[in-house]
Amino acid sequence: MENDEMKNTVLITGASAGLGEEFAWQLAEQGFNLLLVARRTERLSTVQRNISIKYPSVSCLVLSVDLNEADALATLVNFVSLQKIELTGLINNAGFGIRGEFYALPANRQRELLQVNINALTMLSHAFIPHLTATSIAVHNNKIPHSQGVQAVPFIINVASTAAFQAGPNLALYYASKAFVLSFSEALHEELKGKIQVSALCPGATKTEFAEVARMSNSLVFKLRVMDKKAVVSYALKKRGKAIVIPGLMNKIGVIAVKLLPRFITRKLAYQIQK
Ligand SMILES: NC(=O)c1ccc[n+]([C@@H]2O[C@H](COP(=O)([O-])OP(=O)(O)OC[C@H]3O[C@@H](n4cnc5c(N)ncnc54)[C@H](OP(=O)(O)O)[C@@H]3O)[C@@H](O)[C@H]2O)c1
Repeated sequence: MENDEMKNTVLITGASAGLGEEFAWQLAEQGFNLLLVARRTERLSTVQRNISIKYPSVSCLVLSVDLNEADALATLVNFVSLQKIELTGLINNAGFGIRGEFYALPANRQRELLQVNINALTMLSHAFIPHLTATSIAVHNNKIPHSQGVQAVPFIINVASTAAFQAGPNLALYYASKAFVLSFSEALHEELKGKIQVSALCPGATKTEFAEVARMSNSLVFKLRVMDKKAVVSYALKKRGKAIVIPGLMNKIGVIAVKLLPRFITRKLAYQIQK
């Protein structure tokens, strides 16, 4: 039996802070129900409580999961099934960077980066594409009413970065992980056309906890122009049918410049601003 309260639900990873929390707020305003995932239980509960106060008609569930743990995927899949959640959206947003020379950074932390930024995103997509496809078929057959102004067209937003377009010395693995996310998401965009809208969101430096976690608050990248998370998320949601979404004019110009310049120049420039 379906759970009527959990129709039109968007699963957001990394929803305890930054872009993920902002996605939760903007989707709640649009009338979507939410399943918020991250490690910090108290932060998730605070977001849940505040959203439920401001948007009482929105069902907001939270699940504390460490995407670095081997059983994270099974925990999430079981939760969605037990709660009879009908997914309309998946936002693979959880991710982090670590600044420093590759060989000098702890191997464990690098393994965690690969797990969260790449493996979890990939396997969550694999696990939930069948749910989203089922939602898509139901929408096409008009079995799901567009309630509360929600356009129930299923979507996946994978959060990449402008880092995806080039190599990034001093953040080597982070840049490489985002290149994976961009390439993977573009491929899914084509494979799932007509069923699920898949986008790679490629923000540039944005004011969240990212810089602090990556130990790069004092780097030139975050001293130059930093975007506001509200603007990044509202643009991502507005453009979610597009394969590649780059918020902000300066970020768009930056990506074009990276494509035009030889790679030996772009990697040297990236090294300079991330030292
Ligand atoms: N901010 C930027 O400048 C920028 C630019 C380009 C791309 N991005 C990308 O945007 C995405 C969101 O980052 P943000 O800027 O919003 O950073 P943030 O404020 O640090 O948020 C990161 C989120 O990821 C969650 N997370 C980290 N490790 C996790 C794990 N092992 N299991 C579950 N959740 C985990 C964190 O929650 P818990 O700590 O509670 O687990 C937090 O909610 C990332 O993929 C990042 O690479 C950010």
